[in-house]
Amino acid sequence: MQQSTSSHISTLSLIYSSYSCLHYNVYAGCLQNSARAYSVVPAPRDSKEKEMMHRMLRVDHAGEYGANRIYAGQMAVLGRSRTGPLIQQMWDQEKKHLSKFNEILAENRVRPTALLPLWNLAGFALGASTALLGKEGAMACTVAVEESISEHYNSQIRALMESDPERYTELLQVIKEFRDDEMDHHDTGLEHDAESLPGYWLLKNAIQLGCKAAIYVSQRV
Ligand SMILES: [Fe+2]
Ligand SMILES: [Fe+2]
Repeated sequence: MQQSTSSHISTLSLIYSSYSCLHYNVYAGCLQNSARAYSVVPAPRDSKEKEMMHRMLRVDHAGEYGANRIYAGQMAVLGRSRTGPLIQQMWDQEKKHLSKFNEILAENRVRPTALLPLWNLAGFALGASTALLGKEGAMACTVAVEESISEHYNSQIRALMESDPERYTELLQVIKEFRDDEMDHHDTGLEHDAESLPGYWLLKNAIQLGCKAAIYVSQRV
């Protein structure tokens, strides 16, 4: 009886130790994952760097969020047209950009802009209304927005390079990759007759003025 009790105890302790080992491995795996995830943005050195990083990440997230809503609006109007698959292709890339920034914001506890509900509506309205002008309207909107986002990313790249390129290597990699995608979207718009829209320059300038304002407030609010 005593032997059976002790064998029970040793079986139980074996089960417990394998469970805690499994538990530990899962925990260690999580730690490893979070360490890997955190590596895109370095832990802030001081409150000044933290504030700078948060503003930067907040506005990038807002931009990708807005871009997603613009493509959603374009697809609502032109989704079934011949241009649908092309717009969908760009939208799919924007979804990846947004999910990356969602991840980065969550990992670094960065508050998204309070204006997301506004960008939700404004983005969709901009995408849908320009798409109502036809394929050229949608492409003109794409050229305007993507040029603004590329310039915005370029200015961030310059700032990070001037500050400390080694410290921000991984973040720079992400931003450069996204900037290249945005440039491709911009070029796609031009290749698909954006400039043939009557009033193209007027529309482009108006949209870019809106983008500048959106960037300005999204950093701050
Ligand atoms: Fe994007
Ligand atoms: Fe884009």
